[in-house]
Amino acid sequence: MVYITRKERFSAAHRLARPDWPEEKNRLIFGKCSNPNWHGHNYSLWVTVKGEPDPETGFVANLAEISRLIKVHILDKVDHKNLDMDVDFMKGRRSTMEMLAVAIWEVLQEPLKASGCVLHRIKVRETEKNSVEYFGN
Ligand code: NI
Repeated sequence: MVYITRKERFSAAHRLARPDWPEEKNRLIFGKCSNPNWHGHNYSLWVTVKGEPDPETGFVANLAEISRLIKVHILDKVDHKNLDMDVDFMKGRRSTMEMLAVAIWEVLQEPLKASGCVLHRIKVRETEKNSVEYFGN
């Protein structure tokens, strides 16, 4: 089994805060990400698929096609957008890296499958020091 990864970048705004919590508690739990007037991150996204190399091409997957699917289904929707207000697949979800990774998995799984790819991992990095990985369960 060979694992192949496409890395992309996007920039987006968000805010982490529960409306049912007082401002002080949001600040305590969510830190800088609770800033009332929004803020942004330069995110990195890794999409890994797995499979056996095709005997004819030597490819596990067509990275150009994977790149196109990520662009159409994810980047066009999140880049330079507000994750809490503009992004359909984030509706009803808190805009943490964790929820973002799960949502991206759910959005990409079917289109990748239709292209003959088996999704293995979604990795989302919010800052130099903080990232999450999701493997579908
Ligand atoms: Ni933040």
